Amino acid sequence: MSDDTWTGGYVVDVEYTHGFYPELAPLNLAMAASLAGRRAVDVDQTYTYLELGCGNGYSTALLAAANPHGQFWGNDFNPTHILNARATAQAAGLDNVTFLEASFEDLLTSELPEFDVITLHGIWSWVSAENRHYIVELIRRRLKSGGLVYVSYNCLPGWSRIAPLRRLMKLGVTNASAPAPARVEQALSYARAIREAGSGFFASTPETSALLDQLAKESPTYLAHEYLHEQWWLFYQDEVADALGPARLAYVGPARLMDGFDQFNLKPPQRALLAAPDAPAATEVVRDFLLDRRFRRDIYGRGCPALAPAEVSAWMNGRRFALARLRSLCPLKFQRPGGEFNLTPQVFDAVLDGLVAGPSTIDQLRALPALKAIEARHIEQSLGVLCALAYVQPALPAQGDAARKVVTDRFNAAALQSAAAGRPVAALASPVTGTGIPLPGPEQAFLAAVLRGQAPEALAEAMAPDSEEQRNALRARAQTFAREGIGVLMALQVI
Ligand SMILES: C[S@@+](CC[C@H](N)C(=O)[O-])C[C@H]1O[C@@H](n2cnc3c(N)ncnc32)[C@H](O)[C@@H]1O
Repeated sequence: MSDDTWTGGYVVDVEYTHGFYPELAPLNLAMAASLAGRRAVDVDQTYTYLELGCGNGYSTALLAAANPHGQFWGNDFNPTHILNARATAQAAGLDNVTFLEASFEDLLTSELPEFDVITLHGIWSWVSAENRHYIVELIRRRLKSGGLVYVSYNCLPGWSRIAPLRRLMKLGVTNASAPAPARVEQALSYARAIREAGSGFFASTPETSALLDQLAKESPTYLAHEYLHEQWWLFYQDEVADALGPARLAYVGPARLMDGFDQFNLKPPQRALLAAPDAPAATEVVRDFLLDRRFRRDIYGRGCPALAPAEVSAWMNGRRFALARLRSLCPLKFQRPGGEFNLTPQVFDAVLDGLVAGPSTIDQLRALPALKAIEARHIEQSLGVLCALAYVQPALPAQGDAARKVVTDRFNAAALQSAAAGRPVAALASPVTGTGIPLPGPEQAFLAAVLRGQAPEALAEAMAPDSEEQRNALRARAQTFAREGIGVLMALQVI
């Protein structure tokens, strides 16, 4: 019996990366659904959450730590992934997460509760039709009415011109039993050899050639998972919507908040086309043609009722918002496919400045002198935009901060320990926003130094003993961290 029998052609000899995907956060999904005008699960109360194909489980474990009022499950058929996930949960003393070594098919007959939220990131395009069927059937059986599903996948038309590169890479793997990094190297060298020999395909698709050069800089682990699976499928959005129909799911909106802002993503004639009375019903497919999108992160819901605009406002007005990055890294001028935008400083700067002091509600922001004359609906709109820009995150109720912090402190201590031991983590947990705060490796080291009572600047010397240039760059980063970063992390109660 070949390995493929139990893996379905899935790469199992190399562990997936230990990433964190902010779209999976319950509060992000609830906000995205609300902004799309749909009633979502109340994630301030208790709920159940399942991540299908959770990999090493870092996202699920972090979310469980930051939302101890939720009950989390994750499954994966790769035993190493599940052991890693359980070790992360155990190191943080989490008692609200269960990691199951189980395939999607196994889950159909496992003892499971009904779920408010089911997520699958990096799964749909990389598993067989049979496995997609198990997933749909599981959702049909186990998702509660009003529940949300998050699904990400490689989509068309964005992949149409470059998809042949993946085929070529697969052809280039002559030794299928070689370790994954060697297979990746075989695949890339073969594609390069074809190009260098004078390939009509590469000549007529310069973007494929650019992608091939770009891939040489990516991690072999990621490349093995993205390009070398037996299963690798591309979908138009309406095909995925049709496939999820039997689970009684309907499309709600994009999980990445920015994808919901047509005014930033589309030019006026493109928007007019979408709004035309005779526009096709498959608006998302049209959007993908307009934007040439390659990857989608979508939310579906089972019977989520429509919200009136006043109800969307009530959702926004009922919560706090927190600054999620350095204030100096929140430019009001930014580029999007729809053009260059310059946000009004009177509102946006004032809101950002207001949040420097700590998480605030719209009412609290309105009480600030700089925002007194601004209407609540403008502050509300600005917070939607600032969350879409990832400058700000929605927050959980203040009264739960202290209880959540007990758990996130344990989680973050274990994560920093893991990073110090050479297993880098992508983000730390905030009990305020119930999600992850991305923190690059050097900043994790600076934070660990601060927690030991050391100045982060002192670390810069030790981190790059041989290069003055690197030392200077690290020293500057350490100073910024000491000046601004610590304050942001304290407001988010990461420390
Ligand atoms: C690309 S990784 C994504 C992991 C994780 N969701 C993330 O985004 O970090 C896909 C994961 O699905 C798991 N997987 C693939 N097929 C599966 C199946 N039939 N049953 C259970 N897990 C599966 C793999 O072991 C792998 O960990």
